[in-house]
Amino acid sequence: MAANILVIGSGGREHSLAWALARSPGVRKVWVAPGNGGMVSAATEGAAAIAVASVAPEDRTAILRLCHDKAVTLVVIGPEAPLAAGLADDLRVHGLAVFGPGADGAKLEASKAWAKQLMTQAGVPTAPSWVVASRTEALDLLHRRRRPLVVKADGLAGGKGVTVANTMAEAEAAVDRAFAGAFGRAGEQLVLEERLEGPEVSVLALCDGRDLVLLPPAQDHKRIGEGDTGPNTGGMGAYAPVPFLDQQGLEQMRSTIFLPVLAALRARGIDYRGVIYAGMMLTAMGPMVIEFNCRFGDPECQCLLPLLEGNLAAVLQACALGQLGEAPPLITRSSAACACVVAAAEGYPGPVRRGDPITDTGRPGSRSMVFYAGVTRGETGQLQTAGGRILAGVGLGNDFDQAFDQAYTRLGQIDYAGKTVRFDIGHQVRRR
Ligand code: AMP
Ligand code: GLY
Repeated sequence: MAANILVIGSGGREHSLAWALARSPGVRKVWVAPGNGGMVSAATEGAAAIAVASVAPEDRTAILRLCHDKAVTLVVIGPEAPLAAGLADDLRVHGLAVFGPGADGAKLEASKAWAKQLMTQAGVPTAPSWVVASRTEALDLLHRRRRPLVVKADGLAGGKGVTVANTMAEAEAAVDRAFAGAFGRAGEQLVLEERLEGPEVSVLALCDGRDLVLLPPAQDHKRIGEGDTGPNTGGMGAYAPVPFLDQQGLEQMRSTIFLPVLAALRARGIDYRGVIYAGMMLTAMGPMVIEFNCRFGDPECQCLLPLLEGNLAAVLQACALGQLGEAPPLITRSSAACACVVAAAEGYPGPVRRGDPITDTGRPGSRSMVFYAGVTRGETGQLQTAGGRILAGVGLGNDFDQAFDQAYTRLGQIDYAGKTVRFDIGHQVRRR
C-alpha cells in the first residue's frame, strides 16, 4: 500500500483529497504541494498527518526532489494545468506511480475540439458541433445555422471560455471576444455547438487505463447568485448523490460513455490513468456529454469523497498502476447525502479583498468538515483570506436536509470580513 502520498494543488479539492487519503488505511503521511495554510493537520488515531511543501508544480526538479526526500510512493495531481503541461509524464519517467493522465490524455479537457472528435469516434452522445479557426468562419456558420449556438474556446480558459448565447448578437459578441484574444491561445479555435436543455450532472470515473469505477453523481452550482443567477464562478457549492440519476442510469453511462471513451483513448495509444469527469446534460433525448474534464471537479470532489467508504489511497494507487481489478472495492455509504457550501471573498468572481483574518468558533465533527481553498497563514499564524473561494463547509446526513444543516451550521461558525455564501445550494433536493 502507498505509504507516503503527494497531492499536487492548493484548493479545496486538494484539501478534500488529502483528508480522504490521510484516512486511508496504510497511509503514513500526506504531503500537498504547494497546498495552503488551512490544510495542515497532525496525525490522529484515525488519520495520518497532512503537511504542505511550498513547491510549485511547474518546478519539476523540486517536485522530484520532494518525492525522493519524502519517499513518496503515489502522486495525485489535482488541477488541469499541470496535467495538460505533462507533469504526470515527467513523474512517470522517473518511476513514480501517478494518478492523473499524461498530457496526451489531458487533451480531453485541454482541447474541446479534440474531445469532440474523440466523442464522435467513440459514438458518445453529445451536441452537434463545428470547429472554426477564424472570425469569418464562425460568423458564416452562425448565419447559416440561423440560431445562437453555444460558443466555446477550444483550450483551457479557467471555466470562462463558454458563452451560452440567448441571441445572435450575444453569440457574435462571444466570437468577436475570442478572436480579439480574450482567451489568448485557448481561443484561437472555437467549438460552436447546438444548445441542449436539461438538468446538469457531473459523473466522475476513476480509470486505470482499461477499467474504471464510477463515483456517485454530483451537481454543482456555478453561478454566484441565489436562484442560479449572475456570473459564473469556479463553483459555489455542490451535493451528491443526485437523486434524479439512479444506479441503472449510471450503469448505462458506464457502457455508453465511459468505456467507449477509454477504448477510443487506448486506440490512440493513450493509457489514461486518472479521473474522467463527464459534465452531462440529461436531455429529453437522453444523457449527453457537454464537456470532459481530466481531473476531479471542484467543489464536487469535496462532497463525493466523504460519501466513500473503503481505501481511497489503495484505489487511486491501483489506477496509477493499471491494476484496478486488484483494488479493494470503493463502496458508497448507503442512504447518505453530502452537501458542500462554498464561502467566497467579497467581490468574487471579480477582484476580491484579501488579508482578512478568519475566525472559527467550532470544531471538526464526524458529520461536518471544512476544506480550505484561498487561505494563507499570516505572520502570527492566523489564517487569512487569500483568494476567491476561501473554504467550503461540508455536511453528511441521512438526507439532504440533515446534510445541508450540518454544512451551513459549520460554515456559520467561521467568519471573516466580506464572507459571501449562497444560502440556496441544493435547493433542488432540500425540503426546507
Ligand atoms: P463548460 O465550461 O464546458 O463546463 O461549460 C460551462 C457551462 O455552459 C456548462 O456547465 C453548461 O451549463 C453550459 N453549456 C455548455 N455547453 C452547453 C450546451 N451545448 N448547451 C447548453 N448549455 C451548455
Ligand atoms: N465544478 C466544475 C469543475 O470542476 O470544472
